[in-house]
Amino acid sequence: MAPVTNTKVIFKAIPKDWPVIGEHIVYDTSSSIDPEEHPLDGGILIKTLLLSPDPSVRGRMRDPSVKSYAPAFTLGEPIESRGVSVVLRSETEHFKEGDYVVGMIPWASYNVFPSHAKLIAINNENRLPWSYYIGLLGMPGQTAYYGLNKIVNIKEGEKLFVSAASGAVGSVVVQLAKLRGAQVIASAGSDEKIAFLKEIGVDRAVNYKTEDLDQALKEFGELDAYWDGVGGPTLDIALANMKDFGVVAICGLISSYNDGENQYGVKNISAILTKRLRVQGFIVGDLVEAEGGTHAFQEEVGPLVVEGKIKFKEHYTKGIENAGEALLGVLKGDNFGKSVIIVADK
Ligand SMILES: NC(=O)c1ccc[n+]([C@@H]2O[C@H](COP(=O)([O-])OP(=O)(O)OC[C@H]3O[C@@H](n4cnc5c(N)ncnc54)[C@H](OP(=O)(O)O)[C@@H]3O)[C@@H](O)[C@H]2O)c1
Repeated sequence: MAPVTNTKVIFKAIPKDWPVIGEHIVYDTSSSIDPEEHPLDGGILIKTLLLSPDPSVRGRMRDPSVKSYAPAFTLGEPIESRGVSVVLRSETEHFKEGDYVVGMIPWASYNVFPSHAKLIAINNENRLPWSYYIGLLGMPGQTAYYGLNKIVNIKEGEKLFVSAASGAVGSVVVQLAKLRGAQVIASAGSDEKIAFLKEIGVDRAVNYKTEDLDQALKEFGELDAYWDGVGGPTLDIALANMKDFGVVAICGLISSYNDGENQYGVKNISAILTKRLRVQGFIVGDLVEAEGGTHAFQEEVGPLVVEGKIKFKEHYTKGIENAGEALLGVLKGDNFGKSVIIVADK
């Protein structure tokens, strides 16, 4: 087989605020690969099918001297995120040709991994969409499940507010909370998203761009818990509407990921003291590790997904040459549901 272009999406420069395509994220079509001949040295050659432009990708586009829970990307190397690939060739017993694998995948059309690659072969016995393994059944779904169980510990009848509620994590939080008998108020940024939130059973859906969120929360009643996916002014409004001894689960702060040094300063900090709130940030990987794996998630959420009892929207971007735009779309809120980059069909 003749060599083919191996398109890569390179982390070229550290953005101070919003990443710019062509400056911080650069498409590189200069390398090629012969899928049949490329040496594997005992490893595997995989072809990228799907990539997941998670908001956390932005957090790794930073100076490596700034500490965080995940390492900074290396300048000049491909960006990486969770993804699904197919094994084209294997020289290891751990994977075989034709396996679909999920794991951290460099943003390149093709990648060579060593024998003990941290990839998981997917056993898709129920023939679910492969994209579910980076969404509903992957990291975002697990974030919702473990965050709700371990951080919020939501109970029947409790009042929960969820922001970024129509997205990958938020929409699963909403539906699991409803299954546990909670009363849910949820916010999102378009009328289309609000219609979806009503479809998945929220008791009150608020378009925070056109409605008065504070007023809506006041009408709903004091909150036992707030699931924060956005931070910024939304967090301030939520703090003002918490019940004494309520729980604020800081899942994400997407409204400030591109604010650089001009971070929004939360004003209602005093509510944490006066209402004796528990405010807890968390990262899904820590919760999964503490649980010794995702068995509980698979046991409870797996059947719900197979039976179609959890609704999940996906937002597709075609082509690795549009991966950077897909990431920016998530950060701007242009995605409606889990954003998925379709790199190849097979
Ligand atoms: N802690 C963890 O382990 C963990 C794991 C996964 C994700 N997260 C975090 O959870 C949040 C949601 O992630 P996701 O993957 O599910 O993404 P998502 O909700 O599918 O997409 C992001 C959404 O955030 C909203 N948004 C963007 N900018 C905003 C702003 N300035 N103010 C308010 N909302 C804004 C947009 O929806 P609207 O139209 O509603 O504005 C956008 O569609 C992110 O903050 C992410 O970093 C945390």
